[in-house]
Amino acid sequence: MMSQVIMERKKIYSGSLLLVNSRYPLKNTVKERKKELVPASVNFPAILLKRDAANILQMVLEKIATRSLIVPVSGYRTQKEQEDIYNTSLRDNGEDFTKKYVALPRHSEHQTGLAIDLGIYKEKIDFICPDFPYTGICNKFRKAAPSYGFIERYQKDKEEITGISHEPWHFRYVGYPHSRIITDNNFAFEEYIEFIKDYTENSRLVYKDKSGTIIQIYYVPAEDQTVINLPDRCTCQISGNNTDGFIVTAWRKN
Ligand code: DAL
Ligand code: ZN
Repeated sequence: MMSQVIMERKKIYSGSLLLVNSRYPLKNTVKERKKELVPASVNFPAILLKRDAANILQMVLEKIATRSLIVPVSGYRTQKEQEDIYNTSLRDNGEDFTKKYVALPRHSEHQTGLAIDLGIYKEKIDFICPDFPYTGICNKFRKAAPSYGFIERYQKDKEEITGISHEPWHFRYVGYPHSRIITDNNFAFEEYIEFIKDYTENSRLVYKDKSGTIIQIYYVPAEDQTVINLPDRCTCQISGNNTDGFIVTAWRKN
């Protein structure tokens, strides 16, 4: 038994698995982007994230018991904010640095509300490149995050693929278990979006997690009206990939 949903093509621009980079700009509307923005943390009401990302971020921080040692530095950015950051960096840091560390306006994950820059608590925190070392509590966060839904987005050995320099502080919410699969396979997010296209409705990726939960993942290419078949007795999420299709994540109910 299966149920079906029909997705309009424009829905490929919504969801937690959007690939946003120099090649794929944000396409969804401002209203869509702003939907469900909430503070990343009660102590930082001006730093916003999509609700799921904010909840999961809090969960990871609680899990590792940081006691405020990790602070959110930058979350959701409007188009105007990304333009200002880009232009200020061009002026202060030059073109070379800016191209490495600041995405062009409309091409920043921060504009989705799914990305967060984190810094270790200090008197002065650098806004573009906060310190988030591979030691201590920061690394504890980095290690725990993929089991909840976040990935370190701009890895050192993936600069050619992501187009952005190594950013140890930038984390992207993609949702579990995608975050776990990406990290365990050492994929850049770009590589994962390609990898997942090999798994379709008739040949799904079946992920069994530590607790024994079975999660099916598959890609459905977009048509004007895409018919998506969903497995029965599952909780399903459908996300666009911001390029050409949908990714279904189906959790089998016990
Ligand atoms: N620092 C990242 C690449 C951004 O500006 O979105
Ligand atoms: Zn960032």
